[in-house]
Amino acid sequence: MGYLNNAATTWPKPECVVNAVRDFMLTGGANSSRGSNSQRDMKTLNIMLDCRIKLAEFFGGYDDDPMFVTFTANITESLNVVLRGYLREGMRVLTTSMEHNAVMRPLRALESKGLKIGIVQGDSRGLVKAEDIKRELDSVKYDLMVMSHASNVCGTVQPVEEAAEICRKHSVPLVLDTAQTAGVIPVNASELGLAALCFTGHKSLMGPQGTGGIIWNREFAERVEPLITGGTGSYSHLETQPDEMPDKFESGTPNLPGIAGLNSALDWLNSEGIGKISERENETGQYFLEGLKGIDGMILSGLTEMKGRLPVFSFNIEGKDNGILADGLSRLGFETRPGLHCSPSAHKTLGTFPQGTLRVSPGYFTDTGEAGEFIYALKTLL
Ligand SMILES: Cc1ncc(COP(=O)(O)O)c(C=O)c1O
Repeated sequence: MGYLNNAATTWPKPECVVNAVRDFMLTGGANSSRGSNSQRDMKTLNIMLDCRIKLAEFFGGYDDDPMFVTFTANITESLNVVLRGYLREGMRVLTTSMEHNAVMRPLRALESKGLKIGIVQGDSRGLVKAEDIKRELDSVKYDLMVMSHASNVCGTVQPVEEAAEICRKHSVPLVLDTAQTAGVIPVNASELGLAALCFTGHKSLMGPQGTGGIIWNREFAERVEPLITGGTGSYSHLETQPDEMPDKFESGTPNLPGIAGLNSALDWLNSEGIGKISERENETGQYFLEGLKGIDGMILSGLTEMKGRLPVFSFNIEGKDNGILADGLSRLGFETRPGLHCSPSAHKTLGTFPQGTLRVSPGYFTDTGEAGEFIYALKTLL
């Protein structure tokens, strides 16, 4: 029946993605830069380069330079590489109250080692106002800002263009968490002047789990220390980490079947077109939103119209436990996600801590008919 947990990971994946992973494991399957120049070695290197080129184009990488694309296992790793590699004792970082723990936990860990953290408060709809970012940057000197493009709890899209402009004027490097938006909202790292754009491959980019990465600004990348060091298949005479990109941030064997799948997912995304994808998700989202608003006792978090939000809906129903509701829905065939969604700070901002919410997130492959079936199931359960 209904998979409504696309904010956690998209499902199903396009068939071409599955085929690319399978093909790599059956016929490709060499390591990267750790062989001879056999056909399989060359095929593996080509897939990696092809994927880097597509990612640089897709995210507006600086000069479309594929060498400044780093592969990681997920955006959590991407954010850790950037934040732990750049921030030092005594530095000051600005973030927002709407962040996922993929941002909050590395920052809190660094705080215990002398990092200073400023937090711009979002409003009760989960919106972080550009004027509040400006006020903070006007009054305090920060070394970095990190923020998410859209909330994984309630789908509110943040004003990143304005935030990027403000950061640029204050010469503060901006790191963007695009976990929820990459693949549904176009984002261009070089146009926004980002220091680093972090992405995850398994959500709306439609790639396999275990993929993600970073699109770097060249000068910023030079100022970041590698978090993980080790074998790169290059400069094997050295016992120290190479400074050259992409090797500097890519030690150890990468998730090559995953990268093959992500490469194919990017072809799929480019041929469908982000415009069509977001239009369709918006249309499906509209059906869910209207249906949810019509339920007695509904307490919806975030914006009440589709404008300015993603189809990621969080709610409570008066007098009901969201975990019990999620369990009941899954018995009726609908997969959702209750609780705090790895985002305690966002839930505090929305006034839904500690009970959390029930999150329902349709995706590109959800059809509008499922909205009606879901609302019917929810009403039946209630
Ligand atoms: C806004 C945001 N940031 C970071 C993450 C972490 O993603 P991953 O588990 O792919 O590292 C998520 C996952 O839900 C997210 O929604």
